[in-house]
Amino acid sequence: MAEQRDKWASKIGLILAMAGNAIGLGNFWRFPYQAAKNGGGAFMIPYFVALFLLGIPIMWVEWVEGRYGGKYGHGTLGPTFYLMSRESLKPRTALIFGIIGGMLAFSVTTLLNSYYLHIIGWSAAYTYFSATGAYFGKDSVQFLINYLGNTGQVLLFWGISVALLGVAVGQGVSKGIERWVKVMMPLLYVAAILLVIRSLTLGSPVKPEWSSMKGFEFLWEPRLSEVTWQSALAAAGQIFFTLSLGMGIIQNYASYLGPEDDVALSGLATVSLNEFAEVILGGSIAIPIAFAYLGEKGISAGVGLAYIALPNVFMNMPAGQFFGAVWFLLLWFAGFTSAIAMYNYLTALLEEDLKISRKTGAIFVFILYLILGLPVALDPTKATLDLYYLTELDSWVGSYLLVVLGLFDIIVAVWLFKPENFWEELHKGAYIKVPGWIKPLITYVAPIYTLILLIFTTKDYITAGYFKAVPSYVAKPEYASWVWLARGMMFLILIIGAIEAYIAIKKKYGEELEKNEVIIKM
Ligand code: PFF
Repeated sequence: MAEQRDKWASKIGLILAMAGNAIGLGNFWRFPYQAAKNGGGAFMIPYFVALFLLGIPIMWVEWVEGRYGGKYGHGTLGPTFYLMSRESLKPRTALIFGIIGGMLAFSVTTLLNSYYLHIIGWSAAYTYFSATGAYFGKDSVQFLINYLGNTGQVLLFWGISVALLGVAVGQGVSKGIERWVKVMMPLLYVAAILLVIRSLTLGSPVKPEWSSMKGFEFLWEPRLSEVTWQSALAAAGQIFFTLSLGMGIIQNYASYLGPEDDVALSGLATVSLNEFAEVILGGSIAIPIAFAYLGEKGISAGVGLAYIALPNVFMNMPAGQFFGAVWFLLLWFAGFTSAIAMYNYLTALLEEDLKISRKTGAIFVFILYLILGLPVALDPTKATLDLYYLTELDSWVGSYLLVVLGLFDIIVAVWLFKPENFWEELHKGAYIKVPGWIKPLITYVAPIYTLILLIFTTKDYITAGYFKAVPSYVAKPEYASWVWLARGMMFLILIIGAIEAYIAIKKKYGEELEKNEVIIKM
């Protein structure tokens, strides 16, 4: 059995940490603009389908993987995938799956977080700007451009946020992360509920036909005939992102469970809490508020919904400074309690694989994120809000790779680990019995769905020009080098992730790899 590992101190702490992990910018920032961009009610139909056929099954898969890896002292995917694959493969073949898992999770936790942390930094800055009324009476597009143009200020708010993350992670899982989320999650709910009340009580301050209720109608009126392949792909992608699936971080948190702790009900609780925060809370803030003040045009603002459209609203709303600050603080809390999971993944990797102490590891990770995040802050296309570097990373690391890793999750934890073993693991210490008809859903439907998703996303990316040397979204070819920088970065990180996973597995299981026979089996 492995050396003493940190463990969640309480059930409530674990559930809040997992909810905090899943509830993030994805719920309050990404969800509204994805829903708005993909036809509101037409988006929600494939969204719920993906929730039941992909979201819940893969959530269970990742909890099972995490607890299993944790039993052997691993909180990262390389060794965990190796151990599970070896159930039906020879060690040297299992090694390949270990390397793939470790490589993908490493890439997501480094690169996705490198720009996500910047958006958290913007939220910190905008909390301050709201409270002081800095953007009031100004053009909100120009204000955002000016802010991003001030790299010193951007790095300052980034630095405050990420330093706090480092402190929390440095303190450990039960003494750090768990304590921080116990304070932050309740505050997050209070902020969200305040904003929902504000949104529900907004009349029609600009035009009578634009009330916030119209915004609800837009989101909730099911329009089956308007569902397209694009909206279905976007909806499934949102399910991955919002539930933190295909990232390695659900597994990492679950690795701090005891071997007999429940995963079946806890996994379901994570999904429920996240969906409440996304569909009920997230869906009742940005879209209705923007609709009431700006009409249909306001919600089509896409990514700018949170940082452009809403500031426009706050400056015209009674007590706008207060509600603006609450909105951006909500984003900050949500982002913080998610990013902390990625921060911890990398710290655990240094701790377990390279035997670097947690505190020193947390400092290394800070420096790593500083370096990886610099291109986000320096990208000259921020002057026109194009943000090529961030866009390129988000398309691949923040969307595509999640689905790839999700597919490998099922291949490894269900197929290679064997469906019977998986089902048994899922029910070990479980508080609920998962009905038998769910088993084929997890074994066949979820992987086939994920595979189809991957094929169509690939096709879609080809049509959208993401595979071109200069992607079609690049309107200013003179800045294409920033796209190439992002690609180079991804390539480099994938390689490092693969090497890291190889070394980690080899170090601990070298002997059986040598013999190509499983030696230590529990
Ligand atoms: N589920 C998270 C969200 O909705 O924002 C996804 C996430 C992104 C988690 C970035 C952690 C992170 F660092």
